[in-house]
Amino acid sequence: MYNWVKKYFHVLVLIFAAQGFIASSAFAKEPGYYGLGRIATEEEIAGWDIDIRPDGQGLPVGSGSVSQGEGIFDAKCAVCHGDFGEGEGRWPALAGGIGTLTEDRPEKTVGSYWPYASTLWDYIHRAMPFTAPQSLTDNETYALTAYVLYLNEIIDDEDFVLSRDNFAEIEMPNKDGFFIDNRPDVINIACMENCKDPSKIKVTSAIKGITPLKHLEQTAAETENKVDSTKRGMGVYEQSCAMCHDSGLAGAPIVGDNKLWVDRIAQGMELLVEHATNGFTGDAGMMPAKGGNPSLSEEDLVAAVEYMVSQSR
Ligand code: HEC
Ligand code: HEC
Repeated sequence: MYNWVKKYFHVLVLIFAAQGFIASSAFAKEPGYYGLGRIATEEEIAGWDIDIRPDGQGLPVGSGSVSQGEGIFDAKCAVCHGDFGEGEGRWPALAGGIGTLTEDRPEKTVGSYWPYASTLWDYIHRAMPFTAPQSLTDNETYALTAYVLYLNEIIDDEDFVLSRDNFAEIEMPNKDGFFIDNRPDVINIACMENCKDPSKIKVTSAIKGITPLKHLEQTAAETENKVDSTKRGMGVYEQSCAMCHDSGLAGAPIVGDNKLWVDRIAQGMELLVEHATNGFTGDAGMMPAKGGNPSLSEEDLVAAVEYMVSQSR
């Protein structure tokens, strides 16, 4: 008997567990669902919901002046960030560096780098002082924000009073340094059946400066001009076009699939290059201008299209 129990113990446990599950599932749709916890109060939610958006949405009522900010900064921030925001020791600088972003050693600070003043309010309120986050009042945060902007010469009047009402007037020097990257996302579609033998897969896309392409360049140098341009076409293709045209992503005609290309090739090189350059929307989908890589030259595009056509005849 004992041995029997031992042998089947795990089976019994499973049966009991299953019974327990069936019993509890009878309550599954009752209010409260798992019967745990309680609904958060509005106050509790407000305690978490402290983000400030770039347009200032989320800023509380309140205000603070540059000179008030100076007093608080000297008392609570200067030990680490320096009297003028220059940064003590290895603590981060909060001011300076404007105009250095294109240099070899850019100095990224609130003033030189951040695109929105709202981030400053949010950051100070959320995370500073480092050792006592969220200990500052809303008015103190307005004052400190005004003072850090003053240290960066974004506000130049010592008597300036920052509040929710005039927040939107603050323009950060680097506001145009951030823009939407509208190049297409690179998405890999997982192969689920009839997949290639993994040992035969070669890397077909390359990232400039990361994927080693030396071997391509070297072979190209050893061969004739015509081959050079094929290599160039292949390089451009792999870098900027393969992400769609290798797999058919977004409806792109797959390179190497003659059926998908025969009518397109019949249109002639000129039109194909025109479509690749300026973008093209047809029945299959949307081909973005230059494959979403505006830095490609006309020669690059011609070479890439020639390469694609040569592979798809
Ligand atoms: C004990 C040292 C210390 C004190 C005091 C302190 N900070 Fe900081 N601060 C830091 C550190 C460390 C960081 C960087 C944190 C990180 O990157 O995670 C930082 C980051 C910041 C940043 C973002 C800088 C950037 O470019 O990313 C701001 C703004 C800032 N602090 C403001 C303040 C203000 C205002 C006060 C006073 C209320 C304050 N800090 C007090 C240590 C401190
Ligand atoms: C985001 C995906 C995507 C990328 C990246 C992409 N293409 Fe396309 N391409 C498409 C789609 C989709 C079509 C089909 C449009 C249609 O016919 O509806 C297409 C069609 C084409 C055509 C045929 C046009 C025609 O007139 O039939 C050429 C040529 C072409 N692409 C070249 C390129 C080149 C060169 C690159 C790289 C520089 C590139 N594509 C990058 C999606 C892409």
